[in-house]
Amino acid sequence: MDGIKLLKSRRSIRKYINKPINEEIIIDIIDCARLAPTARNEQPWIFVVIKNQELKNKISEITDHGKFLKEAYCGIAVFCKNTKYYLEDGCAATENILLASWYYGIGSCWIAADKKPYAEEIRKVLNLPQEYKLVSIVALGYPQEDELKKVQMVKKKSLEEVMIFK
Ligand SMILES: Cc1cc2nc3c(=O)[nH]c(=O)nc-3n(C[C@H](O)[C@H](O)[C@H](O)COP(=O)(O)O)c2cc1C
Repeated sequence: MDGIKLLKSRRSIRKYINKPINEEIIIDIIDCARLAPTARNEQPWIFVVIKNQELKNKISEITDHGKFLKEAYCGIAVFCKNTKYYLEDGCAATENILLASWYYGIGSCWIAADKKPYAEEIRKVLNLPQEYKLVSIVALGYPQEDELKKVQMVKKKSLEEVMIFK
């Protein structure tokens, strides 16, 4: 898919079919994440792939709007060391995960974590050192057909509403 089409067509997918994702693809998605821009080139991140069903269940129940994680093939938890720009860096890496997944025909949805009271609880469940902050979890899975149609209806602001030329 061409790059611009990829960017414009991506949508959040919360319903998945029961089809495994090849491990090489998951690794390549994380390779894209680790190449994201990062302030002062600190690369403060670590990415945890959550495939274990019990862990997916547990984490999805801890979140408020991420219950669909339990039906996803896996989740990728994006953690960053608590640097000055950890949030910007973690968000840039998260966006790369969404776009790389879309390139592979995989649906994804960002599950909020930074500023959420449950972020620390999830860090403990995943056994990460205290110096890491959970920025996001991305649920990944091949999309259900009707979900693909539904998400095309998501209302987006027009270019005129959001663009100013000076
Ligand atoms: C910081 C952030 C946190 C988000 N958290 C959630 C979440 O917890 N649960 C969820 O279903 N979607 C979440 N989303 C996805 C947004 O709801 C989605 O991007 C938005 O509705 C626009 O739809 P689109 O991604 O299909 O363009 C989050 C997105 C961002 C950027």
